[in-house]
Amino acid sequence: MTTLGTPLSPSATRVMLLGSGELGKEVLIALQRLGVETIAVDRYDNAPGQQVAHHAHTIAMTDPEALRALIEREQPTLVVPEIEAIATPVLQALEAEGRVRVVPTARATRLTMDREGIRRLAAETLGLPTSPYQFCDSLAELQAAIDAGIGYPCIVKPVMSSSGKGQSKIDGPQDVPKAWDYAMAGGRVSHGRIIVEGFIDFDYEITLLTVRARGAGGQVQTQFCEPIGHVQVGGDYVESWQPHPMSEAALREAERIARAITDDLGTGLNGEPAGCGVYGVELFVKGDKVWFSEVSPRPHDTGMVTMITQWQSEFDLHARAILGLPVDTSLKTPGASAVIYGGVDAPGIVFDGVVEALAEPGTDLRLFGKPESFAKRRMGVALARDADVQAARTKAKAAAAKVKPRAAGG
Ligand SMILES: Nc1ncnc2c1ncn2[C@@H]1O[C@H](COP(=O)(O)OP(=O)(O)OP(=O)(O)O)[C@@H](O)[C@H]1O
Ligand SMILES: [Mg+2]
Repeated sequence: MTTLGTPLSPSATRVMLLGSGELGKEVLIALQRLGVETIAVDRYDNAPGQQVAHHAHTIAMTDPEALRALIEREQPTLVVPEIEAIATPVLQALEAEGRVRVVPTARATRLTMDREGIRRLAAETLGLPTSPYQFCDSLAELQAAIDAGIGYPCIVKPVMSSSGKGQSKIDGPQDVPKAWDYAMAGGRVSHGRIIVEGFIDFDYEITLLTVRARGAGGQVQTQFCEPIGHVQVGGDYVESWQPHPMSEAALREAERIARAITDDLGTGLNGEPAGCGVYGVELFVKGDKVWFSEVSPRPHDTGMVTMITQWQSEFDLHARAILGLPVDTSLKTPGASAVIYGGVDAPGIVFDGVVEALAEPGTDLRLFGKPESFAKRRMGVALARDADVQAARTKAKAAAAKVKPRAAGG
């Protein structure tokens, strides 16, 4: 394990988060509880995680020189990427030089930073079931891929994007140019590559939080949290709950897929089992059939529900696993989460209705403290527990609806 010391002293264990949004903030809090000295990095000032860390830096994490300079100056024990938009080749170089340990591995962050690396690994190298897909660099290629076998309906996504940005469904030939233009406008960096995927008519989708952590003997073990069900609107998560009921066969298959992908992503530079941490494995399920969709080598937004449902939330699990400590993935109670969007474009907003939201027994709230609100920006999340998971969903949605963000003074 990583030796734990005293923050702000020469013995400190220092962990740097690259990306300090709502998920990074919770990882930082979990690390602080173990006496870790924390360094929060983001591309804008006063990001949620920067507000709770010992040190804060604002840099363009996609700028290789800036990223390397900051890591060399701070010399953290561990670097924890919390977002995808990072100059990951720098992390690979620093890891190979033995300068820093990257969580879970630099290769995992590299492969998952765009849709192509991870999809080719899952489908072509590991042979895991996925939707049919094709990568395209032009509208003509997109049309050709659809005609050659992807068919309708299908989904177009920029290779570099998250939270559904630039993503749209194509129901027929008339939608193709529109989907291409939308993807070009929504991608993270303007190199016009997309993935087109055949539409999977799933019964439900889950996130299977998969944890690689060291057991008492020091060996890396894989453990699973209970499946998390969720609803996505326009490719962005609005609601999640745990546990999601699954057939025995589907659960076994989901765990097989999750183990295969995380075993590969968790392989160390010399082929040894490494790569400890939480992985959010996204899967589609129809009957007993399961498709791999994608994986985050870090806590997952739909996993915020674990802040109320598990003894150790996905953030506690991540903090422990990356420090080489044992974990407990067991469920405490069924529960649910519902997203609170900004609703308005304004800086420094205020939240009405918090008293009403929390008046219902078994509900809780996280307000992320983002300095600026946008109508579709995630500003908080309502949490609810109930012996019945459906009742928890209703409660969480009701609590979220009671919280009303508004412009200050408005
Ligand atoms: N091939 C598909 N068939 C059916 N539905 C799909 C397919 N691909 C994506 N979706 C739907 O769109 C959602 C978002 O897709 P995906 O996870 O690939 O995008 P994303 O931008 O990475 O989203 P996030 O960052 O929120 O995970 C999925 O959770 C699923 O509901
Ligand atoms: Mg996703």
